[in-house]
Amino acid sequence: YANYNVGKSRGQIIDTLVEGLSKLEYRGYDSAGIGIDGEKEFDESTSTKEIAVYKQVGKVANLKDEIKSQNLNTSETFANHVGIAHTRWATHGGVTQTNCHPQPSDDRNEFIVVHNGIITNYRELKTFLKSKGHTFRSDTDTEVIAKLFKYYFDKDNDLEFYQLAKEVLYQLQGSYGLMVKSIHYPNELVATRKGSPLLIGVKSEQKLKVDFVDVEFISDPATTTQGTNGSSYSNSFLTLPTNSEMTLRKSESRAILPDYNKPIEFFVSSDASSVIEHTKKVLFLEDDDIAHIDNGELHIHRAAKAAGMSTTRPVHTLEMQLAEIMRGGYDHFMLKEIFEQPDSTFNTMRGRIDFKNKTITLGGIKEFLTSIRRSRRFQMIACGTSYHSCLAVRSLFEELTEVPVSVDLASDFLDRSPPIFRDDTCIFVSQSGETADSMMALKRCRAAGALTVGVVNSVGSSISRETDCGVHINAGPEIGVASTKAYTSQFIALVMLALQISNHVITNATRHQEIIKGLEEIPTQIEKILQQSKKIKEISEKYLHNKQSILVVGRGYQYASALEGALKIKEISYIHSEGIQAGELKHGVLALVDDKLPIVAFATQDSYSAKLNSAIQQITARDGRPIIIATEGDKLIDGSKASAVIEVPKSVDCLQGVLNIIPVQLMSYYLSVAAGNNPDRPRNLAKSVTVE
Ligand code: F6R
Repeated sequence: YANYNVGKSRGQIIDTLVEGLSKLEYRGYDSAGIGIDGEKEFDESTSTKEIAVYKQVGKVANLKDEIKSQNLNTSETFANHVGIAHTRWATHGGVTQTNCHPQPSDDRNEFIVVHNGIITNYRELKTFLKSKGHTFRSDTDTEVIAKLFKYYFDKDNDLEFYQLAKEVLYQLQGSYGLMVKSIHYPNELVATRKGSPLLIGVKSEQKLKVDFVDVEFISDPATTTQGTNGSSYSNSFLTLPTNSEMTLRKSESRAILPDYNKPIEFFVSSDASSVIEHTKKVLFLEDDDIAHIDNGELHIHRAAKAAGMSTTRPVHTLEMQLAEIMRGGYDHFMLKEIFEQPDSTFNTMRGRIDFKNKTITLGGIKEFLTSIRRSRRFQMIACGTSYHSCLAVRSLFEELTEVPVSVDLASDFLDRSPPIFRDDTCIFVSQSGETADSMMALKRCRAAGALTVGVVNSVGSSISRETDCGVHINAGPEIGVASTKAYTSQFIALVMLALQISNHVITNATRHQEIIKGLEEIPTQIEKILQQSKKIKEISEKYLHNKQSILVVGRGYQYASALEGALKIKEISYIHSEGIQAGELKHGVLALVDDKLPIVAFATQDSYSAKLNSAIQQITARDGRPIIIATEGDKLIDGSKASAVIEVPKSVDCLQGVLNIIPVQLMSYYLSVAAGNNPDRPRNLAKSVTVE
């Protein structure tokens, strides 16, 4: 989050930044920090102020307390000012004050950077910068960006700030939304993005005279233009002296320029939620745009013109309310999170799977890999949806590692208190990382001397801290109480764990390659399923709405899908639902089947197809009319007596469950809405169950 403003006091600047950050907290956070002009002079000859950076782990409120404890001069007023701020959700490096953003280039804070995303070549860049004498303090990938700015500035200090940014960006691989503040460019801001959102809010007391900004191409001085774009979780705060308006520049390229009568203020953010209270006028940056704010002017630069690209960035008027923005335009967080799954599943794999060479590297368990491979048993422990993700991967774990795998509900594990041995590896799967039952089971396993591995979404949570090692699923914050994107990401993280543990066994190579290829296709296949949401809504409303009870049937890899599907339905639609192993139908459940009982059946094309088909016949012979979730193009499925058939793209057998669950997540959502419930806040349930 960044703010450029004019004539504000230090106290006002801090308040704006901290308020902006607290609006971003809903996206998840583990620490926060800001960088503003400090009280001391950096350079007496130019009377430039030093950059002061304040950071704190935990909530934004902790940062606020930290700043308060500094007893700063809050009344000092700035003619114009840029401040940047950030809430962090750790990816590289633990949750520590040193790892918070802004990350500095050096002890004197010559450049400070806030960054969302992941720099995939940061190790190479770090090695290069170390060879040039730079020393690193944090474990973050972001620190290399700050140091690269200093490296290129020291080489050529005649560059404009945005030109310097271009040099740095040229070296970065991966994704970023970033903002930079520098002592060498006082009260200027650079904000740029690639694969991570950024937008710029423009607040002016006068009506903006243009409704778009031209893009200026750095490599082509003839086409001078202006532009702005925003970046990730950071905000920069830039204040101009009294002036501001969007006007035409002399060069005829449109930019946002001050008119020197009215103050203009810019708010750059990864998320409109921290901008909307200040202004509704925003520009969205596109990948590779470099927004430069200097002396009240906003310009958007790019290195070069790409074929077919737009050369203007329109000024939009946000019509959404704050709550809508936070939901990304969706009616509920749950729906947003269901639709995020092409991205969240990709993020789980990002930086860990090399799809080209079909290799996998899980940095978080590297040091323990030898011990994990020596274990005599894998004991998986979790609750609810997280428990289902363990069930979903159990047979793959057994197949690849040839070691027995037990899967336990944490509460049952605590009740039974089964024997745990020093050569067991105990895997704890949890979205929140705070579930009390799982935490207590973890303590018991640690006390027994077992090796403990966490598969957790919330970085810095109790389970991720207390396990010996682990894998963060990187699904991003999940706000809807019913778990959706965390399930598919847990599933994938566990598959990656099984692959990593077993990749030293040469006979596994072909199967590994097949699975990695399957993983690569998952995000696009999920997108394809999501395109059927309208059809799934209609099916849900026609066949399942207002029913008393719904049976969900599956076997083999799809037994977990049946349990998870039934849990989703019951927890948000309040319709009783039961997940059944199809082989168990004849052992009792068939007594329920008639022409009235709605049934959802996972009839996937795999080695259990024949058995599943016979289960469907047992159902249709008793006048049951199931909704079949089938594999795309499967000719063997007899849909003639089904209520409906939903086709899902074919994946590798052990990954099919990642895709199959999506239609049922959607069904549960639409059933909940049809029943008039709030799917985000089902009655009697909490997102994080911190009581036994
Ligand atoms: C269901 C759901 C819960 C959680 C369970 C465990 O949609 O969200 O069943 O899966 O409470 O929570 P975590 O994964 O945070 O340990």
